[in-house]
Amino acid sequence: MQDPNKPDLDETLNVTESHDRMLREAAAVSREKHVDEGGREPVSLWIFASCGLILIFAGLALGNIGSLGSLFDYDQTVKPGYVRLDLSEDGAKGPPPAEALAVYMKKGQKMYSSKCQGCHGGDGKGGAAAPSLVGSEWALGDTQRFAMIILNGLAGPTSTGQTFAGGMPTQKVGMAPVDLAGVMTYVRNSFGNETGDVITEEMAEHAFKLAEERSDPNAQSTKEELESKYLAPLEGEPMDPSTKIDPVTLEPVEDAAG
Ligand code: HEC
Repeated sequence: MQDPNKPDLDETLNVTESHDRMLREAAAVSREKHVDEGGREPVSLWIFASCGLILIFAGLALGNIGSLGSLFDYDQTVKPGYVRLDLSEDGAKGPPPAEALAVYMKKGQKMYSSKCQGCHGGDGKGGAAAPSLVGSEWALGDTQRFAMIILNGLAGPTSTGQTFAGGMPTQKVGMAPVDLAGVMTYVRNSFGNETGDVITEEMAEHAFKLAEERSDPNAQSTKEELESKYLAPLEGEPMDPSTKIDPVTLEPVEDAAG
């Protein structure tokens, strides 16, 4: 026997051997199935994968086969008595078409009450602050002249020769052509005025162009300027006041039924 007090000369040999044994054991352990503390085995990924496949095939089958296919048939999921909202282009209709005069009048009324009423009054008769628009030659006559008064304002004598201190300031701020068209149509067909015509958006666009082309676009118009340059109708296709138009796009609608 070896003396325990002396170094073991075989030590290196033993180390190699025990190392080998350790590796063999570790390999064996890792080959064993892992069992967690509750005694349940972890579920194999293969089980998840096959469940997924089954769901996919079942879904395909339900969606396609026979009467079960109706489970996914969009048209059969509406309750009886209900109508599915038609979102096709045909069904995406806005407000119903209306007569051009009525559409422009409605827009014009809003404009008038926010832009003009404060000075010219709800009845258009004016007062101490502004002249009457009822029967006003400059409102009912040439549309270029009327448009220039709204877009540029007015200084000096009015159609009746009256003069108001400071005159009328420009009203074009925040005004789009459709607003101008509406308010002109409204004034010409309200308060007892009745020209019966529609000033279209296209005509109003012409008015904005004319206003931009003035030598001083910021100056108020005067009687002299109006009468030397704007005694003419605004350019644009005249529109029959009873034409049915789309209240949003203002385009004529081919609509025999309405
Ligand atoms: C701040 C007050 C004020 C506002 C707002 C105003 N006006 Fe005037 N308007 C006047 C005054 C004042 C005159 C006369 C100017 C003058 O003496 O040169 C006038 C003149 C006119 C005339 C000329 C009438 C004529 O027969 O000579 C028309 C048309 C007119 N306004 C239309 C409108 C319209 C349409 C609006 C709204 C878009 C409007 N006005 C907004 C004060 C106003």
